[in-house]
Amino acid sequence: MYYPDEIVEQVRASNDIVDVVGQYVKLKKQGANYFGLCPFHNEKSPSFSVSPSKQIFYCFGCGAGGNVITFLMKYENYSFQEALKALAERGGVALPQMEYSAQMRAQIERRNQLFAVNKEAATYYYHLLRSPRGAAGMRYLTERKLTPQTMSHFGLGYADGSNSDLVRYLRGKGFADDVILESGVAAHDEKRGLHDKFWNRVIYPIMDVENRVIGFGGRVMGDGKPKYLNSPETPIFDKGRNLYGLNFARRSRKNQFILCEGYMDVISMHQAGFTQAVASLGTSFTTGQAQILKRYAKDIILSYDSDEAGVKAALRNNQVLRQAGLRARVLNLKPHKDPDEFIKAEGAEAFQQRLDEAENVFFFELRQAEKRYHMQDPSEKTDFCREAARMLGQFPDEMERENYLRTVAQQYFIDEEALRRMVGAYAQVEDGLGDIPIPDRPAPAGRTAKSAPDADVSLPSQRYLLTWLADEPELIPQVARYLTPADFSEGVCRIAAERFWASPGTASEPAQIIGLFTEEAEQQEAAALFHAELTLPNGREEREKALRDIVYAVKKGSVEREEKAEAGSPDALKNIIRNKKSLENLRKVHFSVRGA
Ligand code: UTP
Ligand code: MN
Repeated sequence: MYYPDEIVEQVRASNDIVDVVGQYVKLKKQGANYFGLCPFHNEKSPSFSVSPSKQIFYCFGCGAGGNVITFLMKYENYSFQEALKALAERGGVALPQMEYSAQMRAQIERRNQLFAVNKEAATYYYHLLRSPRGAAGMRYLTERKLTPQTMSHFGLGYADGSNSDLVRYLRGKGFADDVILESGVAAHDEKRGLHDKFWNRVIYPIMDVENRVIGFGGRVMGDGKPKYLNSPETPIFDKGRNLYGLNFARRSRKNQFILCEGYMDVISMHQAGFTQAVASLGTSFTTGQAQILKRYAKDIILSYDSDEAGVKAALRNNQVLRQAGLRARVLNLKPHKDPDEFIKAEGAEAFQQRLDEAENVFFFELRQAEKRYHMQDPSEKTDFCREAARMLGQFPDEMERENYLRTVAQQYFIDEEALRRMVGAYAQVEDGLGDIPIPDRPAPAGRTAKSAPDADVSLPSQRYLLTWLADEPELIPQVARYLTPADFSEGVCRIAAERFWASPGTASEPAQIIGLFTEEAEQQEAAALFHAELTLPNGREEREKALRDIVYAVKKGSVEREEKAEAGSPDALKNIIRNKKSLENLRKVHFSVRGA
């Protein structure tokens, strides 16, 4: 449900950040702020600060930051809505109830019914496994080295061979046949009528992030086919938006996910203490799932079977992750097939070592590429170099690109300069900076013109300016004569500028601006705007000049973005001339700023 800004603001304002953070972190007053040990990274001396006047927190060590809502999202791994609910309760703010149409109400009621059926079914399977009738299932799971605690933790169960006991049981609980059918635990045909879907299988309930059972996987105990039978998608079970084990992994506090293939892999990793493991649900990994992972952690380790299919899956999933802005590492499990087998054979410590050694996905992909060429053949090696250069060109950050470049040159005995030139050509195409199109080269994949980073050249200046204005809001009216919010990059900077410009001269409340963002990454960026340390000169004249330079840089960035967007349009030339003029004028403008 979407809550209006005023409500969000009311909830935020009714929870003092020092009180809330103080429940989790030991804080000590120091000057205007409070300091403590950052709960989001390991540290020995406190660099985590909470500002009572700005109502925000910021860690100078790891950059985590935000307002009271962000804090709870991060600490408890809550979604925005969940954090808001918790704080509303704490602050005694009544959240508005949504007005539902009759149709909506019926839909919600239906979903609740489906949750209820799944829960009852899970209970039924659970008890059956632990009864005499579940002996075969219990034996199977025990042989697979699962402890009773693990079995309970994951709610494992059993469906025996008897005829439609579950359907009978659910009817007895008052569920209508059509709900039982829609939940997917039963099927229907002419001969048998409504009957159990799962029989003679061990049962793995699938839970959503809120620990509600939404479906099941059932495994044969032995070599039968199919190995796994899974619930179909239903209104509460969207396979592309759920991950097996996420309900536990999101609370693992390891800032990392291990993404693997199977139910059993997740379960054995959790049993061995790797509670950050999740699996996509027998379908291919989706962008939706990547977005969900991104909410909780940046470090993703791909743990796929070490066969060819596993490598393919890793390569494909890495594309999906990259598009979502995540960079993965790849786990090497050789000589074992999957995490479950690895842990059984080598134990948790060895597994942790493999995690630490997990290979950067760039080198993994490069090695896969290498296999496609005969490296002894000079012309094939050249082709390989081209491919490597193309891959290197995808790093938007120059320093990072250089570091990789040097390693690649060394590893494959490629002349560094030659490789750099090749990469340079690709990087220019990528950045849209090259004025001469380079023939005969495939367009680099993976990034589209729209998301090209050229929009961001002036971002540091934008941030610097906004930070300055947050500190000295009385400057806003002067700056607003030359810049509008549209001169700032879309996203955090633009939105913050809109707020500043809307009430020029008055101090905008940082926590309120942060509250405009629901994505954690954005909140963090916004918090950084208010906590960045400015290294401004002291003298008045120097400061005035500094402000002019920054305003100029921001305007220039904006003009360049505009020109790029308009390139080729009939008005382009006219605009370029006009822009050039206004930029020149800006060079001569005088800002009046007080000295420090
Ligand atoms: P695996 O064959 O690797 O299964 O398939 P696993 O989890 O390692 O199981 P064990 O160790 O043999 O018991 C990976 C995943 O693919 C899906 C399941 O989600 C499984 O966990 N799958 C596989 C199916 O849905 N149906 C199948 O028949 C096989
Ligand atoms: Mn397995």
